[in-house]
Amino acid sequence: MLDKLERVPADVILGLAAACRADPNPDKVDLTVGIYMDEQGRCPVFDAVREAQRTLVAEELTKAYMSPAGDEAFLQGMGRLVLGEGSQALRDRRVGSVQAPGGCGALRLGAEIIRVAAPDARVWVSNPTWPNHFPLLSSVGLVFETYRYYEASDHTVDFDGMVEDLRRATVGDVVLLHGCCHNPCGADLTLEQWGVIAGMAERQGFTPFIDFAYQGLGDGIEQDAAGLRLMVERVPEVIIAASCSKNMGLYRERAGIALFVCRDEVNAQALVSQALVVGRRIYSMPPAHGALLAGRVLSSEALTVSWRAELDAMCQRIQGLRSSLRRKLEDKSGGDFGFIEREKGMFSFLGLSVEQALRLRSEYSVYMLDSSRINIAGVNDHNVDYLAAAVAAVL
Ligand code: LMR
Repeated sequence: MLDKLERVPADVILGLAAACRADPNPDKVDLTVGIYMDEQGRCPVFDAVREAQRTLVAEELTKAYMSPAGDEAFLQGMGRLVLGEGSQALRDRRVGSVQAPGGCGALRLGAEIIRVAAPDARVWVSNPTWPNHFPLLSSVGLVFETYRYYEASDHTVDFDGMVEDLRRATVGDVVLLHGCCHNPCGADLTLEQWGVIAGMAERQGFTPFIDFAYQGLGDGIEQDAAGLRLMVERVPEVIIAASCSKNMGLYRERAGIALFVCRDEVNAQALVSQALVVGRRIYSMPPAHGALLAGRVLSSEALTVSWRAELDAMCQRIQGLRSSLRRKLEDKSGGDFGFIEREKGMFSFLGLSVEQALRLRSEYSVYMLDSSRINIAGVNDHNVDYLAAAVAAVL
């Protein structure tokens, strides 16, 4: 039976990261997976997380299953972090929250719930979107529609195109939005544009589903949540998949949360019960360690202060890398790379052809996705000149 199965290609992002790891060229540049890397090319452990881990390991008395809904400190802390300290929806107790195995696990929980609530739901995704959205959401049987989002010719959001396409989204449809730091293009909606989409959701009755994986890495923790919070204020039902992978550096620990903002408390509890049934069916219990660490950080004032400061520094460093990459690329190529400075978070498209991206890989050991999506956080003072010269050479 099993011998009928053929080898399939690796995931586009993870496969390229593996190819880069295997490349012996000492000058190689890894701009593949969305991981924050410091000047030395290391993905650091936050000080606050290290401290939380030290106390957790010292105090932990059991490895018995945790509650299927997850760690209470994590759920409470994440609710406040994502929705804001003063969130009316939290005060009204109409947010059902369930811990999940990373942001992907939260997306999958959301998708499963959508499928139960509206089996014929169409999920509207931006063009482009994170490649893994398709297998993650389609594996539960949801069908896709795409809406225009990124105008590659001038590296801006094609907001008119987006609005025109989303006019066709109706009650029972779901619109997947990137909460901030759009993956893969880095071009975000303005707050005003969030307001327009919120108005459409109110009038047309579609449900916003917000993938929120990069809070704190665009403009700052509160600023990055502004669009999402506006949506929650105005639209009675919103699903959010949030993650601590990037903003707490808990990538491998798989700490995520699905937040179901509902019309009332009774409905929120119903959603939690549904999500627990789904979770039990696909992975039984959420992993504990990462969420326990995040819960400790978010429930300690001292650790929160330390974590926020470190995250703010990362955010500012990414902005600095955007400026320096722009400058170097413009110096070396004479082209206009101003968009790199305007875009947010870890990703931008360099605007290269597939052939150019492939040449960068084969001739210079510079690894980016075929679409020329780069992880800005893979740039550093040591590789920026080499990278800019290589890009200029293939242009
Ligand atoms: C990325 O887009 O590189 C990250 O979200 C990591 C991943 O799992 O693909």
